[in-house]
Amino acid sequence: VEPDTPVNDPFSIVSKEMSTLAKNIGSLLGSGHPTLNKVAMYYFQSEGKHVRPLIVLLLSKALSEIPLSERTRGTIDTDDVSAHRPMLGEGIDDPLSPLGILHGINPEIILNPLSRPQDPLPAESNGILPKQRRLAEIVEMIHTASLLHDDVIDNSATRRSQPSGNIAFGNKMAILAGDFLLGRASVAIARIRNAEVIELLSTTIANLVEGEFMQLKNTAVDTTMEANRASFEYYIHKTYLKTASLMSKSCRAAAVLSGANDQVVEAAYAYGRNLGLCFQIVDDMLDYTIPESDLGKPAGADLKLGLATAPVLYAWEQFPELGNMIRRKFDEPGDVELARKYVAEANGVEKTRLLAVQYADEALRQLSILPESDSLAALKNLTLAILNRKK
Ligand code: FPP
Ligand code: MG
Ligand code: MG
Repeated sequence: VEPDTPVNDPFSIVSKEMSTLAKNIGSLLGSGHPTLNKVAMYYFQSEGKHVRPLIVLLLSKALSEIPLSERTRGTIDTDDVSAHRPMLGEGIDDPLSPLGILHGINPEIILNPLSRPQDPLPAESNGILPKQRRLAEIVEMIHTASLLHDDVIDNSATRRSQPSGNIAFGNKMAILAGDFLLGRASVAIARIRNAEVIELLSTTIANLVEGEFMQLKNTAVDTTMEANRASFEYYIHKTYLKTASLMSKSCRAAAVLSGANDQVVEAAYAYGRNLGLCFQIVDDMLDYTIPESDLGKPAGADLKLGLATAPVLYAWEQFPELGNMIRRKFDEPGDVELARKYVAEANGVEKTRLLAVQYADEALRQLSILPESDSLAALKNLTLAILNRKK
């Protein structure tokens, strides 16, 4: 599968929205504490792929091409939340912070939400609604929070070719900064004022933790093919929770905000689910194939962390003894090297890639419900770029 045309480049179609992403997130993150600001902003200052906001923005634009008469869900949520309203705890605006006290701010005004300034009138641009833009920012905040925590859990030293947050600031600050990001993301979610979207995004936070918990546990019980199959199901479910849930539910939220009908909402969800599974399966494949220097984060890390991902699960089908090695998390001397050898002999990486292709195909199939447009073409290209990426 090759991208059809270089014209519909995913990034350039929403480049305006993407260029203000980090700045807008920055405005949601101001705290009364300068070091907290620094740690919370740390991963936003490095060269991330920003895949999740890109998906949300492109899908939102593609959804805007649906004629209004077909958006039978009722309301299109055009309220503007893109303007920054200060949050409690943001230094000068907070009556309870030293700066707030210093400036004599009246706690009544700040603590009563109804007396707070309202967001300005709808400002849709480029077909993308203000709430969809905010959604893209929230999704990146939740994702970044999970990366700060993930690098502590995985004891990683690098991310995006820089020292990871835990190395730059220590575990305690990295964890707290992740929690702070989630807290501020939650305020931004509440301000979207759409119960369905609030529920979707809150669920993704719980799902990330559930997926990470599933990953802590061993999957192999014995060396039989039934155990292999069960492990594969477990792996896919874990992968949905740790990666695809955020993508699928944010795609669904973008569709809900657009007022699209139920069929389109379901297709948006299924698109995000399949794309998310493809994304993480490719990630698990790259862990075997790309050196750290290109990846910008530790390579070959999964086996060392005791994790059995798709390449090794495929190899197990051919080499039953891998069942026992998975069960003991590759912790005996030589396990990691032997597992790598089995993966190579069983073409585990190639089989993993074919699995990712299947999910990408299904993701593309779901998009066929949307009307033809440049943004749809760009979204298809993004899907292929996620499948074919090298980092
Ligand atoms: C990266 O996976 C990590 C995730 C996709 C999710 C991590 C989730 C948590 C740590 C749970 C806590 C969640 C929140 C919202 C604070 P990876 O380690 O396979 O990828 P990597 O190679 O990029 O590190
Ligand atoms: Mg990790
Ligand atoms: Mg991890």
